[in-house]
Amino acid sequence: MIMEKIILQKWLILVLMLCISDLITTSFGANNSVTYDHRALVINGKRRVLVSGSIHYPRSTPEMWGDLIQKSKDGGLDIIETYVFWDLHEPVRGQYDFSGRKDLVKFVKLVGEAGLYVHLRIGPYVCAEWNYGGFPLWLHFIPGIKFRTDNEPFKEEMQRFTAYIVDLMKKNNLYASQGGPIILSQIENEYGNIDSAYGSAAKSYIKWAANMAVSLDTGVPWVMCRQADAPDPIINTCNGFYCDQFTPNSNQKPKLWTENWSGWFTSFGNPIPYRPVEDLAFAVARFYQRGGTMQNYYMYHGGTNFGHAAGGPFITTTYDYDAPIDEYGIVRQPKWGHLRDVHKAIKLCEAAMVATDPTYTSLGSNLEASVYKTESGLCSAFLANTGTQSDATVNFNGNSYRLPAWSVSILPDCKNVVLNTAKINSMAMLPKFTPQPLKYNLDSSGVLGSSWSWFSEPIGISKKSAFVKPGLLEQINTTSDQSDYLWYSIVMKGDEQVLQNGSQTVLHVSSLGHGLHTFINGKLADTRYSPNGNHHISVDFPVTLNSGANTIDFLSLTVGLQNYGAFFDLTGAGVTGPVSLRSSNGGLTVDLSAQPWTYQIGLKGEDSELSSGSSSLWESPVFPKNQPLTWYKISFDAPDGNDPIALDFTGMGKGEAWVNGQSIGRYWPALSSPKNGCVDYCDYRGTYRSDKCLKKCGKPPQQLYHVPRTWMKQSDNVLVVFEEIGGDPTQISFARRQIGSMCSHVSESHPPPVDTWNPEKTGKKVGPVLSLECPSPDQVISSIKFASFGTPQGSCGSYAHGRCKSIKSLPVVQKACVGSRSCSVGVSIDTFGDPCIGVTKSLAVEATCA
Ligand code: GAL
Repeated sequence: MIMEKIILQKWLILVLMLCISDLITTSFGANNSVTYDHRALVINGKRRVLVSGSIHYPRSTPEMWGDLIQKSKDGGLDIIETYVFWDLHEPVRGQYDFSGRKDLVKFVKLVGEAGLYVHLRIGPYVCAEWNYGGFPLWLHFIPGIKFRTDNEPFKEEMQRFTAYIVDLMKKNNLYASQGGPIILSQIENEYGNIDSAYGSAAKSYIKWAANMAVSLDTGVPWVMCRQADAPDPIINTCNGFYCDQFTPNSNQKPKLWTENWSGWFTSFGNPIPYRPVEDLAFAVARFYQRGGTMQNYYMYHGGTNFGHAAGGPFITTTYDYDAPIDEYGIVRQPKWGHLRDVHKAIKLCEAAMVATDPTYTSLGSNLEASVYKTESGLCSAFLANTGTQSDATVNFNGNSYRLPAWSVSILPDCKNVVLNTAKINSMAMLPKFTPQPLKYNLDSSGVLGSSWSWFSEPIGISKKSAFVKPGLLEQINTTSDQSDYLWYSIVMKGDEQVLQNGSQTVLHVSSLGHGLHTFINGKLADTRYSPNGNHHISVDFPVTLNSGANTIDFLSLTVGLQNYGAFFDLTGAGVTGPVSLRSSNGGLTVDLSAQPWTYQIGLKGEDSELSSGSSSLWESPVFPKNQPLTWYKISFDAPDGNDPIALDFTGMGKGEAWVNGQSIGRYWPALSSPKNGCVDYCDYRGTYRSDKCLKKCGKPPQQLYHVPRTWMKQSDNVLVVFEEIGGDPTQISFARRQIGSMCSHVSESHPPPVDTWNPEKTGKKVGPVLSLECPSPDQVISSIKFASFGTPQGSCGSYAHGRCKSIKSLPVVQKACVGSRSCSVGVSIDTFGDPCIGVTKSLAVEATCA
């Protein structure tokens, strides 16, 4: 019977060994040279097979960074990749900000201290579903500027910021050439996707960008992603769901993959994309199989678009991305664990992989072997079945191997399979959100005192800074994105009265988006949002006008500025017209477009700094629900425990929320995704696309909004909410992000755990093993909810016994696991007896921790 409990001592020795090896391999402090050749990045003269993952520092908090980095390291990453966000660091030209979540130096240092490398993608155009692609809005107003092309004012600004960041890194000795962790830098971002729109200037711009970057003398290589014509010595790299077929533009450059999309982003009004780990692991293994030596998960931790960071239009506040570490910083299982196993398997092949190019042999239709074999006797192989339907048995080096469809087997010694990408040994974890009511503060009398206060945003013009201009103004040029909101107001007298006649009139409005509320004489008459945010709004609706003066107020709004596409920076928004009134019998039309309009940038509430809670505008009696344009405030106690926290905005419409003055982002639970397009089971086999595997059809994609624990005190916290379309704030509650069950399902046909690989083959033969581990060190496995060795069916949370089952299943697993933080059980008839001879059996277990 193979039944192993993990022994603490063994772990301690392992940890000690790892620490020592860290000191040896990544001792920042000594200068490291980074170069490259045809095979790989070369660090200190050694070619390396590297695994990287994206974590964008402002999408989490400094308090989360250490843990995220450690989990990345435990997951087998060598490099953390991040963009640099220009708009955050230089909100006003010449005024820099690196505080709090913007502390880039601290982030890079933390990665270095953990013994990992950094890939710094400066851009400074970053795309990234980030507001305006990361450009500060003031850039748009520089006279004569044209973005991302051979334009002097733009190049000057781009160079100034890039040089500023490079200098900052140098001052802190953060480049590998100075003993720091940065081994790679990126300039521009996927310009090759859109360069044809910029004509011949695109070529000279890219040449300039390359020269400019190289002249900054970082001592480490530069890359350009998706830039087939990247000039030497810049390495052109691949981005995509698969990059095995990619070749760099010179035989002197290594094959690098800067964005392997681990999932995809979500937009308001759309379902949530996810990417099965079997497919992601397949893509990773195929890349290394076909000569690749560095790939980066975009994202490894996606995080949260706090404040107005979300790009757009309509990018959600969550940027979870179905990444291996979820928005809340918890490992997503089995994704994280299976990829960790894949990385270990690939690293076992590193010595052979860096020594030579692979040779490819067809083993049949859709079946391919790649062999890395050196004269000195090293040999590692990858066997792939790229077919989408049929599993296959192949012969390789005189042995026979079973290859499931859409999978790769990794053979570090060209003989034994250490991992197959479709066979998951890692456990799964079911996330759960435990609701918890908002805890109101008790006032000194001990009675529920401070419940909600509120303030009604005035309809139309209310600020002194309002101004009059003839004609309809484009919104972004008018607001400079200082606010999502712009009021357009007109009072009609005179000619327009012809239209009134006591009868109905039709108002026509054309807007570039993204949303529009129309008020007639102070009453909400119409609300609409452009589909997906990027279509124009063109509406006609009947309005009833008074005799005498009539006021039309448009509240036009943006929901994150465009971040992608040729000339994305020129995408407009707002009511650009025409705006006209038509008598309902069609007899007369009055065009209001060219009239003088009064404009107000932003809301009164925004100016009065309601978001921090301190303002004299708050009222408390008669509490309005389901009223548009209403500000709400409450003071509350932090939820119990240490779990990550979300606010559940079910019952609210659309708006923004602040906790103790910090914006947790825009919320929009009122907008559901279309009913169709989701699948109950997503077959990982076959080419993945971002719309292949979708969930939450017919539902709002985001109801839960992350509130970092460290933004809250124990008590006296202030929540401020601006509700745009009407909602019931008393329904707002907390949700604690916890783990429900953990599960594992391992077959007799799975390879043994990759950790047990023993090249010398001196140890005893290990078979497949099922392992479980509670996520927190102070937890133990408290119960086994299900265990079945035989032919169990179903998935985590809904396993059921099959026809064949061993009666020993539950007692054996209970004995091995209950009371320990982790346990491992051999998946074999040696452990459980044979309940059905001749049938391939598996072990499925569901357990809980406490
Ligand atoms: C890439 C881009 C990234 C990100 C990604 C989609 O094209 O380089 O910044 O936008 O798409 O998540």
